[in-house]
Amino acid sequence: MAKDPTQKPVLLSGIQPTNNLTLGNYLGAIKNWVKLQNDYQCYFMAVDLHAITTPQDPKLLAERTYRVLATYLASGIDPKQAMLFVQSHVPEHSELAWIMTCFSTMGELSRMTQFKDKADKEGKHIPSGLFVYPTLMAADILLYQTNLVPVGQDQKQHLELTREIAIRMNNRFQTELFAVPEPFIAKIGAKIMDLQNPTNKMGKSETSKGTLFLTESDDEISKKVKRAVTDSGSDITYEDSKPGLKNLLSIQAALTGNPIEGIVASYRDKQYGQLKVETADLVVNAIRPLREETERLMKDRGELDRILKLGATRAREVAHTTLEKVQELLGFVRPMGS
Ligand code: TRP
Repeated sequence: MAKDPTQKPVLLSGIQPTNNLTLGNYLGAIKNWVKLQNDYQCYFMAVDLHAITTPQDPKLLAERTYRVLATYLASGIDPKQAMLFVQSHVPEHSELAWIMTCFSTMGELSRMTQFKDKADKEGKHIPSGLFVYPTLMAADILLYQTNLVPVGQDQKQHLELTREIAIRMNNRFQTELFAVPEPFIAKIGAKIMDLQNPTNKMGKSETSKGTLFLTESDDEISKKVKRAVTDSGSDITYEDSKPGLKNLLSIQAALTGNPIEGIVASYRDKQYGQLKVETADLVVNAIRPLREETERLMKDRGELDRILKLGATRAREVAHTTLEKVQELLGFVRPMGS
């Protein structure tokens, strides 16, 4: 598709409104997106269509969908700049996803490690939605001529497949139908690990003592950080062999924006206990205003709905243009005058 050279590169990402969001979602993703919104045309979604690949309680799904949006806003994403919307509000996602499914193969989808892991656990009863999940993700990305997708390690393979589908369709139709997206690796921003098992990524499991949810009280957060697992020894250093310390230092760096070396130096001759207490205070003070603003917005459904409608309307204009082009190339007829 013809490109306007004055246009900013397009950056897109989404979060599933399944569990409540964690400090990992905030520091690893959302907080960085805030800094990107001036330089990129950003699209940020709550991906409810992806969420239903596993069974969801309808009331909770609705509440969490609003909560993802409220958290984006409370974190400082500006709905006048970024497109903030709910995936299912733009029906082009489902429509293009079907077409993407027809342009991917069983072999490709069977190779996705996320699917393989789940299939190993669930066997034949695994929902088909989990199998075609990456084709929906490809549709999300390709509808907007996306150039950059900030993804974690677990989603890289899905992005790689998206690129292959884009290239395949561009070749088939001998035109630049889709921009071919690249992974966006943030220079700053951290991978936040589980406080109890610091070699694992901070997950979303409700019962985990090593996960910090953005909805938790000051007290709960403080306790969890102070109980974080640290490593043997007594010197505070930043190294792979000390994953517990590394995680706390990374959290501090991500929250303050200060370089790791400076933080490590400030702990020379100090004890693990002090690092934990100070990290706990930093996290509590960062999450408190975010939680309070999210709760305020959650009570203002009118405002959230207004923002969602606006986001979906703006996103749809772009999505529709791409989808129509695809349909035309495929030979789908469009009766005159409609
Ligand atoms: N699959 C992503 C995840 O689970 C969420 C997602 C859906 C996404 N569509 C996307 C991420 C498009 C980036 C771009 O984390």
